[in-house]
Amino acid sequence: MYPIWEVPHLTAGMVIGLIATFHILPSHLSTGAMWLNVWFERKAYQENRPELLDFVKRYSKLLLIFAYVFGSLSGVGIWFATTVAAPRAISGLIHNYVWGWAAEWCFFMIEVAGIYVYVYTFDKVDRKTHLNIGWVFAFASWTTMIIIVGILTFMLTPGVWPQTGKFFDGFFNQTYWPQLLMRTSAMFAIAGAWAVLVASRLKDERARASVVRTASLWGLGGLALAGVFLLWYRAVLPPPAQADLAALLRPGLKTGLIVPPALTALYFAFLGARPRAASFWPGLLAIVMIFAGIFSFERTRELIRKPYVIPGYMFSNQIIGNDLPAKGISSELPKINAEGILKFDPFVPPELREVTDANRLRAGRMIALIECSSCHSLETGGIRPLPVFIKRLGAASPDDVSTVIDSLGAMPFMPGFSGTDAEKKALAAYLASIAK
Ligand code: HEC
Repeated sequence: MYPIWEVPHLTAGMVIGLIATFHILPSHLSTGAMWLNVWFERKAYQENRPELLDFVKRYSKLLLIFAYVFGSLSGVGIWFATTVAAPRAISGLIHNYVWGWAAEWCFFMIEVAGIYVYVYTFDKVDRKTHLNIGWVFAFASWTTMIIIVGILTFMLTPGVWPQTGKFFDGFFNQTYWPQLLMRTSAMFAIAGAWAVLVASRLKDERARASVVRTASLWGLGGLALAGVFLLWYRAVLPPPAQADLAALLRPGLKTGLIVPPALTALYFAFLGARPRAASFWPGLLAIVMIFAGIFSFERTRELIRKPYVIPGYMFSNQIIGNDLPAKGISSELPKINAEGILKFDPFVPPELREVTDANRLRAGRMIALIECSSCHSLETGGIRPLPVFIKRLGAASPDDVSTVIDSLGAMPFMPGFSGTDAEKKALAAYLASIAK
């Protein structure tokens, strides 16, 4: 175990959520944008339409500054935040996928260098070379998606990895292809929406209309395909994830998955027919809509992993809950249940390792921090506040709360309590005290 993230109201999940949410916009722009860019650059050369190059240059600058300054910074931010929030899970991912990450970084380096080379060699190298630089960038950035999707989907559906422990058994799992195809389709929609925004500022009418028309058609096609692949993805989700989906997908999130992409599709269809109607503010609104759609998807993806951070292996509170003989790993639950979580976790202060009458509430709080705080706030505000939840259940006395604790593992999204009886009583006493 590691030290615990403990900031009132700001749970670790929230910090990751905030950074990751921001990161979505630049990261998804970066994989898709260059495809559109080289398409227009080629068109400009072939049809001798230099006015299109004005768009290509502006769009690449957006890519450079937004995706590769803000996007890169927030990407590093996700590593910092997740490492602090869930060091054991990150360690698990690194031990298992170190060569995947290494490959990812190689392609990312090509991207980062590539965008600077692309932007700063306009009119400095011959056309063919410049286009080739664009292609290299486009393929390198899409390759980062091909790799990261394997690791992302592994965190929801590890396939037969829990039995075999093999790299590719976890990587090519049952949600890999639907999610890769869905993200690939969505990236064209995202690139299209950004392109409309950039094109709406072009002075040349003809260039503006042709970019807007093409970008909207890419956007519409991308959204339609993404919708189809999303249904495929949903269909292959394993039963525990389906159970989470049924229990946790609130109406707001459901709306977020359907309405924003549908509105964006209508907007693209409208612009495809009347490209001259494109203007800046509706274009920006379309990006906000797409953002709401992606946010809802990512949030749902996070929800349906519960109670695990890596299913079949590690719970969200970073306790290893399963045997993985192929990796020489065994479940920690028997030891925790026999000796106690307070003795198991080396970061528990010495005076709290044994529950006594004098330290009961403080020991209980420590247990809540270790076992519950990755998903619940211990204050009345923040994510899934425990005082509010306990009160809502009408559990007033420590004995009532004990009964609630016994029932946790029966819910599809929560790990059961693990620890000794004395520890359960301490946790119950603490939870009853904060619910007062
Ligand atoms: C993997 C994340 C996770 C962990 C760890 C976790 N919970 Fe939960 N818990 C949830 C989710 C998700 C819900 C459902 C919230 C909702 O309904 O929106 C929930 C709901 C609850 C509820 C309300 C149940 C009901 O019937 O309304 C209680 C009480 C609760 N948790 C207590 C705990 C306690 C105590 C711990 C620590 C021992 C804990 N949880 C650990 C995710 C978690």
